[in-house]
Amino acid sequence: MKGLILAGGKGTRLRPLTYTSAKQLVPVANKPILFYAIEALKEAGITDLGIIVGETRQEVISTTGDGSRWGVRITYIPQEAPLGLAHAVKTAQSYLGEEPFVMFLGDNLVKGGIVNFVRKFESSRPNALILLCRVPNPQEFGVAELEGGRVVRLVEKPRQPKSDLALVGVYLFDRHIFEAIDHIKPSWRGELEITDAIQYLLEAGYVVEPHMVEGWWKDTGKWEDLLEANRLVLEDLQPAMAGELLGNSCLEGRVAVEEGSRIIDSTIRGPVAIGRGATIVNSYIGPFTSLGDGVTVENSEIEHSIVMAGSTVRNLGARLEGSLIGKDVEVARNDGKPRAYRLMVGDNSRIGLL
Ligand code: G1P
Repeated sequence: MKGLILAGGKGTRLRPLTYTSAKQLVPVANKPILFYAIEALKEAGITDLGIIVGETRQEVISTTGDGSRWGVRITYIPQEAPLGLAHAVKTAQSYLGEEPFVMFLGDNLVKGGIVNFVRKFESSRPNALILLCRVPNPQEFGVAELEGGRVVRLVEKPRQPKSDLALVGVYLFDRHIFEAIDHIKPSWRGELEITDAIQYLLEAGYVVEPHMVEGWWKDTGKWEDLLEANRLVLEDLQPAMAGELLGNSCLEGRVAVEEGSRIIDSTIRGPVAIGRGATIVNSYIGPFTSLGDGVTVENSEIEHSIVMAGSTVRNLGARLEGSLIGKDVEVARNDGKPRAYRLMVGDNSRIGLL
C-alpha cells in the first residue's frame, strides 16, 4: 500500500503566512504539519509516499527531503495547477498504479494516527474507506450522511448539512477511484472534488465504508485552527530541558527546550515548546505556546501563541495572546516620540491593539 500526501494548494485562508510559505510547513509544536502526516503513514507501515506539490514545491522539497530521516521513500509529484483534490489524485495515477492507497491532506492533523483505519480497510476491503468526525460546523467540510451505519450520501460543503459528520482529510481508496474521477465535473469552486468522486462510487454500487476518528482531528486551514492544533499537540508534550536556565528562572509543568536556548530571569509555564537557540529574558511564557528556533523574547509575556523561527518580541506593555507570528518578525514597543503605533505589515495581516 502506498501513501499520497497532498501538499499543494494556495492556502488563501492562512494569508499572509502563505504568501511566503507553504501552509503544510507551518509549525505546530515546532514541527511542520506535513511531518505529522508522514509519521502517521510510517506508523501504519506505509513507507512509499508520493507528495503532491504545487507552487511551493521548492520549499516543501528542501524542508522534507527524500524521507530517509523517517525511513520512508518520498517521490514528489508536481500538480500543474490547484484544480482540486480529485485532480491531484489523478495526477498521481501512474505513481500509485493498481494498489490501494491512503490519501492524506497535508494540512490535516489526526491524533491517534491511522493504524486502526488502515487495519479496518485490510480486514473488510471496501472500495473506499472514509474517516469521519463530528463537528459543530459541518457546512465548512465535506459531509457524510449515514443510515444504519452505512454511507448513503456525501456532499461537499452543504449550505444545510443533513448531519454533523465531517469528512476528515484522510481516505483509503482502491483503483476504482480513478474511474470515479473520470466521471465527475468541476464543482462551483472550479475544482474536481474528491467528495464528488466518492459520491460517484456510491452511485455506481461500489462499497464505501465509514470509520470514526479516535482522539481528535484538526484541519489547520485557518489560523484559529492552527492555534487550537498547537494547543492539542502540546497537551501531549514530553518535557525535556536541553537549554540553560539562568538567573531567577523557573520552569513549571511540561516544558521542552532544545539545545542552545537560554532562559534568563523568566518563568515558563507549560505546556510550552521552545526550539534551538532561543533567548528569553525577563519574560513570562505561558501555556500552549511554541517558540521556534532563534526566537528572542525580552521583557514580555506570551500565552497561547505560535512564534516562528527568528522572530523577536520585546518590551511589550501587555500580554501577547492567541497570536500567530511568522518568521523573522519583530514586535516591539518603541519609546520614541511621537508616541504612536508604527507598523510594517504584509497584505491580509490582522492586528489587534489594546
Ligand atoms: C477538503 C475537502 C473536504 C474535507 C476537508 C478536510 O476541504 O474538500 O471534503 O472535509 O478538506 O480538511 P478544503 O480544505 O479543500 O476546503
